[in-house]
Amino acid sequence: MCGIFGVVGQEKNAAQKVLAGLKRLEYRGYDSWGIAVKKNNGLIRERHVGKIGGAVTKLPASTIGLGHTRWATHGGVTEGNAHPHFDCNQKLCLVHNGIVENFLELKAKLTGHKFLSQTDTEVALHLFESVGLMAGFKQVVGMNAFILLDSANDQLLAVKNGSPLIIGLGKNANYIASDVWALLDHTNQVIFLEDGQAVKITQAKVEVTEAKSGKIIKPKITTLNWQAEQSRLGKFHHYMEKEIYDQPKVLDNLSRLSPPAIKPSSKTFILGCGTASYAALFADYLFDLSGMDVEAVVGSEFQKYQQLLKPNQAMILFSQSGETIDVVEAVNLAKAKGLRIIGITNVLGSTLYRKSDQKILLGAGQEVAVASTKAFTAMLAVGLLLNKKPLQNVAASVRRLLDGPTRNQVKQLATKLKDREHIFVVGRGQDYPIALEAALKIKEVSYIHAEAYAAGEIKHGPIALIENGTPCLVFGNATNAAYEMKARGGLIIGIGYIPDKVFDNYFPVADLAEASAIPMIVIAQLLAYDLAVARGLNPDKPRNLAKSVTVK
Ligand code: F6R
Repeated sequence: MCGIFGVVGQEKNAAQKVLAGLKRLEYRGYDSWGIAVKKNNGLIRERHVGKIGGAVTKLPASTIGLGHTRWATHGGVTEGNAHPHFDCNQKLCLVHNGIVENFLELKAKLTGHKFLSQTDTEVALHLFESVGLMAGFKQVVGMNAFILLDSANDQLLAVKNGSPLIIGLGKNANYIASDVWALLDHTNQVIFLEDGQAVKITQAKVEVTEAKSGKIIKPKITTLNWQAEQSRLGKFHHYMEKEIYDQPKVLDNLSRLSPPAIKPSSKTFILGCGTASYAALFADYLFDLSGMDVEAVVGSEFQKYQQLLKPNQAMILFSQSGETIDVVEAVNLAKAKGLRIIGITNVLGSTLYRKSDQKILLGAGQEVAVASTKAFTAMLAVGLLLNKKPLQNVAASVRRLLDGPTRNQVKQLATKLKDREHIFVVGRGQDYPIALEAALKIKEVSYIHAEAYAAGEIKHGPIALIENGTPCLVFGNATNAAYEMKARGGLIIGIGYIPDKVFDNYFPVADLAEASAIPMIVIAQLLAYDLAVARGLNPDKPRNLAKSVTVK
């Protein structure tokens, strides 16, 4: 949520580098953006409302700069609320990721300052202007990351608690960003800053300190083996489409892994948020059926278990980004109570990765589209592996769907459904989380209201909404519900490996036992994508959303 990027180098192309970095980070927030550079001991900035798109910058040549792409929390989407913010004397500027929870309290004490925006960020900046970054940071409550540029120096200062900050060690330049993907164009040598750490970055040196004491820390340098090319669009129209097509390769790689084993524990909680929570629920069905005491919980509701947590329990977390705040808070709570943490994430070095006792990487490559696709199927695959279910033939079956006649059949269905207001989705057993994910994908990118139910629940109320022609997606073996909906006029679209005469449209997938969930959801991903495109929308950047939800 919000992307921040800074650079200090030898070359005078800071503004261009920051702009390129922000373009990489835009999926974290895209309602407005801004850049500031240092020029002759002063600061010059540009700020804009809207997506960055193909923007170019006219800021003057400079060796040092920072920028921000925003997902608004405090204050509307206006140029004045966009970052970077300036202090009263236009000598300091700040970009910020997170929420200053006590900003009203702090603002009340900051007499004599001129406030020009409605943001919590500007309050933090005036506080830093009064007492300095480190002293001010101690007064800030919340999960935050700040980067400060003081026009009096050729350095960037940054400090963090909760929100991610990664330093990139480049050639003749050093970088800092809220996301490791933004650094890959420049370097694969990175330092993941820990909570409570601060950093001073110059062109020649990076000095990490403990924010509270100022004690110098020797940071761990991580060498990444990722390539920036992984995230280029290639022949595809959108990242969502590209990422759907990346899936056979990701699944192929996962199928070669030796199945990770989890140490037994008295009880295991399994968590995620949004799409990842459905992957957790899918794995939960498999664990429960194998007799393991596992309970699926959405990350944001985990706090209610605090009295029930014991050191002989474990927690499995799914998170593409490894930074989702509700996931991080659940981990913090569970760790404090002594639970063993098993983190399943796509981002090496992410907060979840660092906090986990057992780490499992999804290996899906960068997911740029806001709506998760390949990370979700990778999570399903890991859930299957943890339950000793084979992944053979899964990648091949997905490849067949993408390269065969199914692709066009889904497009035709999207053309037929594109003007519908509602779509109902049902699944039974481990196909129920797949139905939930299908409905989420459709609403996120096409804005069509899609609602998922456990197949057995449809007759307990939702069936009242089925009218002549209402589209109903039916996953797997949920034919009773299909017949019930058909009897009320529903247009029944079957996705599974058992054909039935109840289906008006049928998308067959290979019979891979529990693993059939993967090809089934791929069909729904394609449908969501095609619906968005057919409705003239950009599926990569749905309204109101941002990838990596790092605020509560
Ligand atoms: C939906 C989507 C979100 C994320 C959720 C958790 O397409 O992407 O629902 O799944 O915000 O994100 P991660 O997996 O990064 O924790």
